[in-house]
Amino acid sequence: MTASLPDIPLRSAGPGFFVTFEGGEGVGKSTQIELLKAELIKIGKTVVTTREPGGTTAAEAIRLVLLGNQYQDLSDRSEALLFAAARADVVKNVIDPALAAGSVVLADRYLDSSVAYQGIARNLGELEVKALSLWATRGLLPDLTVVLDLDPTIGMSRVKQPDRLESLAIEFHIKVRAAFLHLAHLEPTRFLVVDASQSTQEISELIFAKVKSRLTP
Ligand code: TYD
Repeated sequence: MTASLPDIPLRSAGPGFFVTFEGGEGVGKSTQIELLKAELIKIGKTVVTTREPGGTTAAEAIRLVLLGNQYQDLSDRSEALLFAAARADVVKNVIDPALAAGSVVLADRYLDSSVAYQGIARNLGELEVKALSLWATRGLLPDLTVVLDLDPTIGMSRVKQPDRLESLAIEFHIKVRAAFLHLAHLEPTRFLVVDASQSTQEISELIFAKVKSRLTP
């Protein structure tokens, strides 16, 4: 006997605007989030930033388990559940209220990280992990997802003190990169893939132009 996954109704961000940043290790997400935030503030937007896993007291506690090098025996399924648990908390307590107030939310990683890292690279199932995350977030999908795409050997060379996931072999990070490109291919309207080997300024101009074109005035 098999059981299929229930379909979870999707919802979008309105009245705010929800942008997520994705990619492998060391691709420069946090720099780009700060640059975009500054540009958005200049045009009068209220901006809220989050990073995953984290952003609430409980999610920061979960982060310590997920990234701590002492938890080498954490099972893959437990890892997937903990990322979803942390996400449920930050959505309910930070992201949903900010979007309801009309803010632009810039998230450093969101559900596509779980699909890429746990669903595809860990081989737990793309659809299963996506459904888990959609259940955790009551179906909240980003308006726009920016993937910063970079050769993982370059990205990993920027990582100074590797955490539990960054310590995985380069083959894992190569799978993660391919997974993000696959997800972007499936949903070309939601995703913007940016070649992250360009200069910081070139990348930020591309991202700001896209966000501006999608924001209602
Ligand atoms: P962190 O050091 O916070 O961020 P980054 O690598 O983005 O600078 O590490 C977060 C790690 O957790 C990173 O290796 C990606 C991984 N991750 C998942 O495997 N699944 C997820 O759902 C999320 C949000 C992150």
